[in-house]
Amino acid sequence: MRFLTNKIEDLTSNSIVCFIFENDQNKTDLFNHLDKLSNNELSKQIYDYRIIKGKFQESIKIAINENLVALVMGLGKKEELTRKKLSQTAAFCARQLKNRQSIAFELVENLGLKNCEDNFSKSDAVNIIFTGARIGLYEFQKYLSDKKTITDTIEILENNITKEIETNAQIGAYSSFAMKFAKDLINEQAQIVTPAYVAQIAQDIAKEHNLEVKIFNKNEIKELNMNAFLAVGQGSVNEPKFIHLTYKPKNTPRKKIALVGKGITFDAGGMNIKPAQSMLTMKSDMSGAASVLGIIQAIANLKSDIELHVVSALCENMTSGSAYKQGDVLTAMNGKTIEVDNTDAEGRITLADALCYCDKLGVDEVIDIATLTGAVIVSLGHNITGVLGNNQEQIDKFQKIAGKSCENTWQMPILDELKDNLKSEIADMKNTGGRNAGTSTAGWFLSNFTKSKSWMHLDIAGTAYLDKSNKETLFGPTGVMIRSLINYLLS
Ligand code: BES
Ligand code: MN
Ligand code: ZN
Repeated sequence: MRFLTNKIEDLTSNSIVCFIFENDQNKTDLFNHLDKLSNNELSKQIYDYRIIKGKFQESIKIAINENLVALVMGLGKKEELTRKKLSQTAAFCARQLKNRQSIAFELVENLGLKNCEDNFSKSDAVNIIFTGARIGLYEFQKYLSDKKTITDTIEILENNITKEIETNAQIGAYSSFAMKFAKDLINEQAQIVTPAYVAQIAQDIAKEHNLEVKIFNKNEIKELNMNAFLAVGQGSVNEPKFIHLTYKPKNTPRKKIALVGKGITFDAGGMNIKPAQSMLTMKSDMSGAASVLGIIQAIANLKSDIELHVVSALCENMTSGSAYKQGDVLTAMNGKTIEVDNTDAEGRITLADALCYCDKLGVDEVIDIATLTGAVIVSLGHNITGVLGNNQEQIDKFQKIAGKSCENTWQMPILDELKDNLKSEIADMKNTGGRNAGTSTAGWFLSNFTKSKSWMHLDIAGTAYLDKSNKETLFGPTGVMIRSLINYLLS
């Protein structure tokens, strides 16, 4: 995918999105330009015949000349236009025009809103449009014999391209790449995406971006005392791998952050085997790992001034003669013991050791991202990510940035009372309790394995993978929280 920024007269694309607001007679520069190119056809259709009125999501395609198609797109009432609506609109427009080689967008802004928190500038818009458009264009065609060619260039038209717009264009371009990278890896079948395969990708990324890289094999994982993580992977013929990548800026880092991604390359449930319907999408149980590997590439490309560690404990959760069993007692890296109550609650066990590992990195913050609990789907559905943690300031800051990144989050509590759910007679804790408060209970479990005073946990079980399309995203992996985390790391 190519991303360009140009002045309106220098338009190179063969399709263009022209935004109009509801009940707004003010024609934009772009509108006038296209009107001229089309011998006033555009203003005739829109302002004389009024075939659309600019309501939100109202749109019409008009041929401007033999080479150029315009999608006139309603944005609704100006004072109601939010970032999220703009992102959804960019995705929608891109999907409408995906058979064109390139798509141009103009930048819009919305300043002076009643709630000034909601204001966004043209430099915000460029980030939103690049990521939104690429969400709309995403398709996984690898296994189709009949492949369609889709748009390969997105062009932004703006007569006054400021430094800020350029910076945000870069952020948008690399964020959208990180999302595409993660989605491709999640879409790939688990037969191919084994722990060793992901480790090789991590190695390749490290080489390309000059990152420090450590890959631990089974014996080395044992030497690190990650016996909880090892137990989860022991039922698979594909051996576990533990990966650790580090990006360091040229100068002293402004901040040091570790990102941990859940990396179960297939979750069959283990001996507590999942029913067929629930197992169907479990190649996506490494969405966290895919996300953090996408993010570190963006951070390296953007030459961020933070030090970023990316960590993942990669394994398969399978049923077999060597699989770990209910009643087993596992000792994590920090010495705490876990009674296995259910082998399908494997993510928290692998994360436990990954979080312990992060304690040794001397970072200011630890954030994990994991397809952790079915319970978060019951609580929040498929469009809201659960946020938990032990530092309210960090959570508040992240949620604010996530909102500005057009993604939905909701905080779930971690309270001492949850401890009773995991009470064990023979170990420090069980790995699961009853059905109640499943997401928070998992959060409480994880909190036992980090010493960080700023640890945050994102439960993306509901949001990482959709089995139905929605307004913005097609069926399949979403790359959720990648935009938000990149914007958070850069802030
Ligand atoms: N990977 C699943 C969680 C999940 C469920 C992700 C649905 C995406 C969609 C996780 O490992 C799991 O199986 N969790 C169990 C925990 C339970 C046994 C306490 C669950 O949520 O059912
Ligand atoms: Mn599971
Ligand atoms: Zn899982």
